[in-house]
Amino acid sequence: MVAIKAAEFAFPRMEAPDLDEMEEFLTHFGLVRAERTSDALYMRGADGHHHLHAVHKGGTKFIGFAYHAASEDDLKRLAKLPGASGIETLNEPGGGKRVRLKEPNGYQIEVIHGMSTVPATKVERDPVNTGSDPLRRKGRLMRLSKSPTMIQRIGHGVLSTPKVKETVTWFRETLGMIRSDDVYAGDKENVIGAFSRLDRGDEYVDHHVLFCVHNEKTGLNHVSYEAQDIDAVFQDHEHIKNVGKYEHMWGIGRHLLGSQVYDYWSDPWGRVHERWADTDRLNAANGGHLLSVEEGFQSQWGERPPERFIGHASP
Ligand SMILES: [Fe+2]
Repeated sequence: MVAIKAAEFAFPRMEAPDLDEMEEFLTHFGLVRAERTSDALYMRGADGHHHLHAVHKGGTKFIGFAYHAASEDDLKRLAKLPGASGIETLNEPGGGKRVRLKEPNGYQIEVIHGMSTVPATKVERDPVNTGSDPLRRKGRLMRLSKSPTMIQRIGHGVLSTPKVKETVTWFRETLGMIRSDDVYAGDKENVIGAFSRLDRGDEYVDHHVLFCVHNEKTGLNHVSYEAQDIDAVFQDHEHIKNVGKYEHMWGIGRHLLGSQVYDYWSDPWGRVHERWADTDRLNAANGGHLLSVEEGFQSQWGERPPERFIGHASP
């Protein structure tokens, strides 16, 4: 039985020892300040959500993920689950109501309804000419806006866990996520990676909103955001590299599963943030697949992931 069908990924919540440094990183990354309090930082993108990232002054802990519910009734359903909090008023910028849950690795999962919205920012980008369609930009010159380009929206979260099956089952049953691709090693029962997307019926959604991947360690592998386009991924890669302060983790390349063009960077405390463009979008009728690690874990182009990325978990 599925408890609810979550509507959207909302934001990751984490701690940072220095909010100025965190804001500086996220600004180079393409997010903009939504609000800053004495002990928390909220960053937004170009879409209409109040924020897409929440950071609390503290240590280096990953606290968990938040999702938007489609209705307040969904919060009532979740509040009845074992271990769930009651419906709480969110006493922070953006507001709204929430229910807190714990997923099988102990991370907090918040499901929110009624967070305030802000006017979306329209980001103008020129169309790209292609070989078979060379006149998308007739008579117009390609002149890119300056970096950092604005992040459009949040994409997905990735959990490293020794309990892939238990974790993915929890998310699929609690938040109504559905299988896009499950990846096995050796025996077909041995699922070591599971890509799940939202179930919004006929509506098309990202190939995955959550990826659970096997690791001896438990933690956040990365959180991801959609850049404006492939040019934005490349030009901002150069921008972040030129800042000279941040560790590059992997990319640029194009994934096979999800198909997005990716670029991965660490924040000052090793939490990996991905910028991507051009993902596959599926609806519920597209179904899901089970495939081997040899078929599934490869890039369509780009270098193999380094060990420090594959084994990464920010607790
Ligand atoms: Fe990703």
